[in-house]
Amino acid sequence: MSSSPSRPTVVLGVTGSIAAYKALDLVSRLRRKDIAVIAVMTRSARELVGPASFESLSGNPVAVDLFPRSKPQQIEHIALADAADALAIVPATANIIGKAACGIADDLLSTVIMAATAPVVCAPAMNVNMWNSAAVQLNVKILAARGWTMVGPAEGRLACGTDGRGRLAPVEEIEAAILKALGWSDDLAGVPVLVTAGRTEEPVDPVRFLSNRSSGRMGYALARAAALRGAKVTLVTGPADVPAPAVGTTVRVRTAEQMLAAVTQHLPHHRALIMAAAVADYRPKNAAARKIKKSGTATALELAENPDILKYASVHKKAGTVLVGFALETDDLVANATKKMKAKGLDLVVANGASALGSDDNDAILIRKGGKPLRCGRQSKRDLARTVLDEVVKLVARPR
Ligand SMILES: Cc1cc2nc3c(=O)[nH]c(=O)nc-3n(C[C@H](O)[C@H](O)[C@H](O)COP(=O)(O)O)c2cc1C
Repeated sequence: MSSSPSRPTVVLGVTGSIAAYKALDLVSRLRRKDIAVIAVMTRSARELVGPASFESLSGNPVAVDLFPRSKPQQIEHIALADAADALAIVPATANIIGKAACGIADDLLSTVIMAATAPVVCAPAMNVNMWNSAAVQLNVKILAARGWTMVGPAEGRLACGTDGRGRLAPVEEIEAAILKALGWSDDLAGVPVLVTAGRTEEPVDPVRFLSNRSSGRMGYALARAAALRGAKVTLVTGPADVPAPAVGTTVRVRTAEQMLAAVTQHLPHHRALIMAAAVADYRPKNAAARKIKKSGTATALELAENPDILKYASVHKKAGTVLVGFALETDDLVANATKKMKAKGLDLVVANGASALGSDDNDAILIRKGGKPLRCGRQSKRDLARTVLDEVVKLVARPR
């Protein structure tokens, strides 16, 4: 069992605009919300503002080098890209906008941008003629089409003495866009939420097991999204293809029986259980103590049914504990998921097809007790996690 901080992290790219000093105010605002900030400054940005100001306000060293001599053990741009729950470029020069649109990665920040999968918020600031140039306008369109959130620029008096569009947008607007990109809110502040994720592995013998293709991505997205809304998350996870997110407490298990034991132990202390783990329905009845040798003839594996963790939870939960299940169905998605909801006494079922397995996207339908099914359409697991948690927030708010 491990405990780790669940603070969201913003990687803040600061580029060589005269408005670079305004990013300091943004750092202070984010830090007041207990959001971690790691600033990445370009060479031009450092000509305009000293890194020491960003370091003292963020409490983190400023990253500047693609090849930092002091950290040979890690690849700096990948570590930064992976750390980001959101990437913010404030202020963004015409240059960084152009490099990002064209896929140029020739310094630390532009390489982090290429490597990051987190949502990006970009706040341009430049002279009005630079902003109106055909190149910048085209590049901004390209980035917006890729899903970047562009904030501003605003109109007004510019540093170069002219009037027009090009000022950095007000810092509070940029902050609001970053909070939205993070999925940050306090609507689950202090609420204990138990999330299961990953798959289970059921041993056949010491070297073989039965399992499934679940990657852990959906459950991890839910755990992270709940933590970003202030929930006290306990993550019970089986094996997965991707690293577990940093949330309150992480409990690692392997088999369905171990997962049941962990859920049994933690459920009484939680207000909601989100059961996203793909638990094997069956396990080999008698796992062999030694490796099963090839015998030259066909053989059969006797299977025993695994415990139904959701069913167990619905029988043993405290009154008012919210139960969310997943239904992976290849046919009659809504009908089968509704049946599952009733049979197991669930409050919400996330119904999806087999294409969700191992993918970054999901095309789910939320089956809500007493409500209409909500068709979410194809979206990232991060976005689906937010939609699921919007429902969990409503369920948690109901009187017990
Ligand atoms: C004093 C000064 C202010 C500048 N302000 C801006 C600006 O607001 N916006 C911009 O796009 N470029 C501005 N530039 C030009 C950029 O610094 C230049 O294009 C640089 O190559 C940007 O590098 P970077 O994007 O890696 O930070 C400014 C240059 C100077 C000398």
